[in-house]
Amino acid sequence: MNATDFSIGICVPEFMNAALCVYKIVLFDKVLQRFVATLCFICLVWPFYPFFHLVEWKAFLAFDTILSFWHGTCKIFRVNCLNISVIIGGSRLLHYSIAVIPGDGIGPEVMNEGLKVLKAIEESHGGIRFACDEKPWNCEYYLKNGRMMPENGLDVLKDYDLILLGAIGAPGVPDHISVWELILPIRRAFQQYVNLRPVKLLRGLESPLRYKGHDDLDFVVVRENTEGEYSNMGGRMHQGTPFEMAVQNNVFTRYGTERIIKYAYNLAEKRPKKRLTAATKSNGINHSMPFWDEIVKEVGREHAGIETNLYHIDALAAYFITRPEEFDVVVASNLFGDILTDLGAAVVGGLGLAPSANINPEREFPSMFEPIHGSAPDIAGKGIANPIAQIWSLSMMMDHLGLPEIGKVILDSIEQVLIDGKVQTPDLGGKATTKELGDEIVSQIYKATR
Ligand SMILES: NC(=O)c1ccc[n+]([C@@H]2O[C@H](COP(=O)([O-])OP(=O)(O)OC[C@H]3O[C@@H](n4cnc5c(N)ncnc54)[C@H](O)[C@@H]3O)[C@@H](O)[C@H]2O)c1
Repeated sequence: MNATDFSIGICVPEFMNAALCVYKIVLFDKVLQRFVATLCFICLVWPFYPFFHLVEWKAFLAFDTILSFWHGTCKIFRVNCLNISVIIGGSRLLHYSIAVIPGDGIGPEVMNEGLKVLKAIEESHGGIRFACDEKPWNCEYYLKNGRMMPENGLDVLKDYDLILLGAIGAPGVPDHISVWELILPIRRAFQQYVNLRPVKLLRGLESPLRYKGHDDLDFVVVRENTEGEYSNMGGRMHQGTPFEMAVQNNVFTRYGTERIIKYAYNLAEKRPKKRLTAATKSNGINHSMPFWDEIVKEVGREHAGIETNLYHIDALAAYFITRPEEFDVVVASNLFGDILTDLGAAVVGGLGLAPSANINPEREFPSMFEPIHGSAPDIAGKGIANPIAQIWSLSMMMDHLGLPEIGKVILDSIEQVLIDGKVQTPDLGGKATTKELGDEIVSQIYKATR
């Protein structure tokens, strides 16, 4: 995942400052801006050379701080021994391989913009590389090959650090095939049991809910992603006869339920409101939902500082509209979470603004990042899809990689473009194309990191 370059230099203390400067140039030779920054630094401090024994460390520390603010991967140490100084430096080049599945419909259109953002991050950061491999696995592939991905598709994906998905689904292929042969196998095989879906009203946008502002609409839905109502246990009998029947079983295991609820509580511990809301329907679904509620209460006992509310899904859907400010972390089963988050997307401006992360918290397998929307056949090919959900999913990817400062740059850039309000796709009330909005966000990223 990461390549680390270490090097050691030795010189007498008198030349240390010049050597450090040169060293830093070499260390950052990949990026012209660092070269210029270092040159500026030399020009600035050189006249003060006679006083270096007083100020050098402060100056260098300041310089390192500036670099590590954005770079975060550079470390330089100086060790003085007898009359010899040793500089030990390391610059970690972060390297991530990403399997890119653009998919169908607007998937490839929004993916193009996402890939431009990754490029902009690489260029402005300098210490990070994303090796993206595109996989043509979609409904067209299905129509040619009779399957959504090759037989060894999951083995191929397993070797990547991350997966980036656009959207899947096309009119010529039944939805249960495209979803069950591509997305669900990936989520399950890679134990991506957490589906994180933020519901956040971005700055620059207004909610369709009157009187609800940015502070009222900022929570996250944790959706169980591997079992529950999306189980393939069941079947059909007596097809084509009047006795025809279909059975679809819900599957709630203790293991699967406990791990998602524990994840949600741990997330609630890190958030400001310290509140967890669990979606249930134990009045109508009388086996699996009481079981779910029991586990919420059991795990909740280990999190005394978190206020817990269990709401029936029908009431909860209404509260998303009437009192969204109440929520902080909402945990829900697979189906409930799926439906709730389309509603969540609607209250913050639409499906084009809703990202998601399919996380394998143990990091044994790649996690997958995608917009929550589908392939939108009604607007596919028109070049007007909103790319923000896809781009925001990259911000979530950076958070997952432990690079929240980059995640923040991406999200801040999206918000800045929305605040400027000059380039907006039709779903936001504007006339801009997918490409124009993507370009605007990219140029904002360059501006923010200059
Ligand atoms: N994860 C996935 O890949 C995924 C998720 C949901 C649906 N699907 C599939 O997508 C296909 C269409 O499903 P659907 O119509 O129910 O849902 P959808 O999300 O594709 O579209 C719903 C509505 O939202 C609009 N919309 C969606 N994304 C938008 C964007 N980025 N910008 C502007 N408008 C946007 C569409 O134009 C449409 O009117 C189906 O085949 C379905 O199975 C796939």
